[in-house]
Amino acid sequence: KGKRAFIAGVADDNGYGWAIAKSLAAAGAEIVVGTWVPALNIFESSLRRGKFDESRVLPNGSLMEITKVYPLDAVFDNPEDVPEDIKANKRYAGSSKWTVQEVAESVKQDFGSIDILVHSLANGPEVTKPLLETSRKGYLAAISASSYSYVSLLKHFIPIMNPGGSSISLTYIASERIIPGYGGGMSSAKAALESDTKVLAFEAGRKHKIRVNTISAGPLRSRAAKAIGFIDMMIDYSLENAPLQKELSADEVGNTAAFLVSPLASAITGAVIYVDNGLNAMGVGV
Ligand code: NAI
Repeated sequence: KGKRAFIAGVADDNGYGWAIAKSLAAAGAEIVVGTWVPALNIFESSLRRGKFDESRVLPNGSLMEITKVYPLDAVFDNPEDVPEDIKANKRYAGSSKWTVQEVAESVKQDFGSIDILVHSLANGPEVTKPLLETSRKGYLAAISASSYSYVSLLKHFIPIMNPGGSSISLTYIASERIIPGYGGGMSSAKAALESDTKVLAFEAGRKHKIRVNTISAGPLRSRAAKAIGFIDMMIDYSLENAPLQKELSADEVGNTAAFLVSPLASAITGAVIYVDNGLNAMGVGV
């Protein structure tokens, strides 16, 4: 019987979430996604109009099917959390049931259970500011959208995850090494995400036999990365300095995700897995 995956953080065909969806679909999984509310309309209409058809092609020639797209805003856990200005916002008012708890309830109603949970989302409103210039509000917003969002997703989805299920998130080496330009508390958010991966692996493993891992990915020209403003420099730096001097493709991260959530990785949990052409292993650039 095929597995079912819920992938949070897919809004176009350029990011890691899309590539992970494809690798999981190619391995036979059913794909269900959660798309950030403000990006939902354009994503769904682009899907419908065939704008992504070329990038939906799987290795066997068939097209990836996305069974259902749910609106999601992972900074809100339940309706009581949502402030009035967001409720009144036109883009949000046009959708419903997009808090984490409500999405988990809807997935349960529609499908009963899932096997795989993927967190491929991050947001830091002050990401272009150095940490020393980051406001408390911006820092906490980065942690809320990029770290606690994972705790919340796992918490609400675990009850509908089958035993033996598996979960992954995406992190970045700025959590442990200095990457100037990855600001606004985003480096702090990734450090929290990696530490939480260990604690969540313990709690979800002991209680529910669910594995929890994170992929520390190299630079990819996604929508989110372009917003940070230094992505081309990071790609060039990696090309020059990594042990493997090739551009990283999103599919390489997708394939690692497919491995990590498969029985092939049945003893791997609480791990940070680097998919970065080996750049993390370098001490100096040469
Ligand atoms: P992306 O733009 O494809 O994905 C980020 C997604 O997060 C977008 O779809 C956006 O709509 C969604 N999002 C933002 N706030 C949200 C919220 N409150 N609720 C729900 N969804 C929300 O970009 P990318 O780069 O593929 O990002 C995916 C993950 O990969 C992120 O965790 C990112 O930090 C990580 N990563 C990216 C690297 C890169 O170079 N692109 C390197 C290492 C890690």
